[in-house]
Formats: sequence, structure tokens, C-alpha cells
Amino acid sequence: MSNIDQSDTLVLGDRPVKRLGYGAMQLAGPGVFGPPKDRQAALAVLREAVATGVNHIDTSDFYGPHVTNQIIREALHPYPDDLVIVTKIGARRGEDASWIPAFSAEDLTKAVHDNLRNLGLDVLEVVNLRAMFDVHGPAEGPLEEQLATLAELQRKGLIRHIGLSNVTRKQIADARKIVPIVCVQNQYNLAHRADDVLVEDLARDGIAYVPFFPLGGFSPLQSSTLSDVAAQLGATPMQVALAWLLHRAPNILLIPGTSSVAHLRENLAAADLVLPAQVLTALDGIATRVDHG
Ligand SMILES: NC(=O)c1ccc[n+]([C@@H]2O[C@H](COP(=O)([O-])OP(=O)(O)OC[C@H]3O[C@@H](n4cnc5c(N)ncnc54)[C@H](OP(=O)(O)O)[C@@H]3O)[C@@H](O)[C@H]2O)c1
Repeated sequence: MSNIDQSDTLVLGDRPVKRLGYGAMQLAGPGVFGPPKDRQAALAVLREAVATGVNHIDTSDFYGPHVTNQIIREALHPYPDDLVIVTKIGARRGEDASWIPAFSAEDLTKAVHDNLRNLGLDVLEVVNLRAMFDVHGPAEGPLEEQLATLAELQRKGLIRHIGLSNVTRKQIADARKIVPIVCVQNQYNLAHRADDVLVEDLARDGIAYVPFFPLGGFSPLQSSTLSDVAAQLGATPMQVALAWLLHRAPNILLIPGTSSVAHLRENLAAADLVLPAQVLTALDGIATRVDHG
């Protein structure tokens, strides 16, 4: 039985959330496109997450598209008071399942309304602007106009807080001159550590860092060190990977994704896992720390 309260809480925007949350991307069909194979199983994962204490769910209306948000609504609406649903905008899906930048003011406004409608909400708690200059990783490019659009939607009361995803340090610094940024969601895990310094800088500035692909995403983490450590601790490699992230910095919020109740339970139990110092040293050695910005 997991006790995710042990993962303590962090304020996201102005709402306290448990550090172990849930990422809903895996609830759509293969390739994050179309309906899931088993809709009842998807509903069960969400209900189990909330029943176990999860109060932070990450989603987007471009998962499916629309499908994941509609499943969240069906499973959980009316939402518990403490539940914070974070969404992201900035892309749309082609008929061939491609990911297409959708960055005009009209696109972004439509995306906010799509999220509101499909989630059954009057206001979105946190909206991440997902940069799409390179779909696979952060790349420089201006975000000023898009942030101005989000700020306007915030003024209209449709968005409470704004975050960024797939962004560079420069984009974060520039954005913060325009609007308060409450979280950054970039790819980061035991083996992919390009944001090492950024995580620490954001911690100092009180901004949440929410790593996507915490378990490796489409290429699950594989490492003999990770497997050895997990065996030694009587845990699974995925639990160790999540516990390492929780330990990595106090501003990290986790949103591991899964379509399986069994994996969900396993992941949430990572909150109880204590990593001794020599284990942390071994895990830190899996990837080289990246010290440049
Ligand atoms: N901002 C962005 O650009 C961006 C990009 C990608 C994702 N995200 C967000 O980040 C969240 C997390 O990322 P993710 O779901 O793509 O990747 P992830 O959490 O790193 O890994 C998910 C994968 O790991 C498997 N898995 C989960 N728990 C497992 C376990 N205990 N044992 C074995 N396999 C396990 C899942 O398969 P099963 O379904 O079989 O468990 C799935 O294939 C997403 O849900 C989404 O909300 C954001």
C-alpha cells in the first residue's frame, strides 16, 4: 500500500499538490492518438490515482485529441476540491497523428476553450505553453506573442496560472518578464539530465520543475545499475527512478504516466522508498551531470 503523503507537498500556482502526481498521456490510444483499447481500464486508473491521494494530474487536449480530457471528466467530474489539473497548449494533431504547432492567438484561444469544455471546467488552474520550435526538445524561438495571448486569457479569468514546456533557459527568463511562470515541464530523468542546472535555478526561484518522461517515456529507462540498485532495495527499477527524482530537488513534481492500475500502484509506492547515500552516488553515475546552462 503506498502512502503518497510521504512524498510531501509543493505549492503549484497557489494550490498545494502532492509531489507524486499522475500524467494522463498514456490514457489515449497507441501513439497518443484515438481512443484507448480499454476505456474502463483508463477510467479505473484515474479513479485509483485520486483514491490513493493523487491531487495533481497532467493532461492536454491534444492527447487523443480530446480523448484523454473526456476520460478524465468521465472518471472524476465533479472533481475533488483539492485536485489540480494542469494542461498544455501549443500543438494540434494531424489526421495522421502528427504533432503540428498551433501557436497563433486563435489556435491558443481555441485550445483553452477545448480544454475547458472537455474537462468540464470554468477555469484552468495551470496552462503550460508547449514550445514547438523543435517538437523533440527545447529550441530557441520567441514566445512573447503567445505569452501575451495567455496573459489576456488569464485576465479574462479562463486561466489561473501559466507554465512553460519544452523550453530553454532564455525562453524562461524572457517569459518571466511578461507573466509569472509557476512551473516548467521539460524532459528529465535519471538518464537524461540536460536540465541539471536549470532544475536547481528554478528551485532557488520557487518555480516547480515537472519532468516529463520521468520513466523514460517511449523508451523506458534501462540500466544495469538501476536494476542492481532496485534488486538490492527490494524495489522495482521504476520506483527507484521516481525516488531519485523526488530526492533530486525539492521543487520537482512527478507525473509518471501509465495505463495500468498495477503500474500506478507501483509508481505511487515510490513515495515510501528511501535511497541510502551510496545508492544515490551509484544512480548519479548513470548519466553525466550537465553543468552548462
Ligand atoms: N510537456 C511535454 O511535452 C510532455 C511530453 C510527454 C509527456 N508529458 C507528460 O508527462 C507524463 C509522463 O510522461 P510519459 O507518460 O510519456 O512517460 P513516463 O512516465 O516516463 O513513462 C510512461 C511509460 O512507462 C510505462 N510504465 C509506467 N509505469 C511503469 C511501471 N511501474 N513499470 C513498467 N512500466 C511502466 C508506461 O506503460 P504502461 O501504460 O504499460 O504502464 C509507459 O509506456 C505524461 O503522461 C504527460 O502528462 C509531457
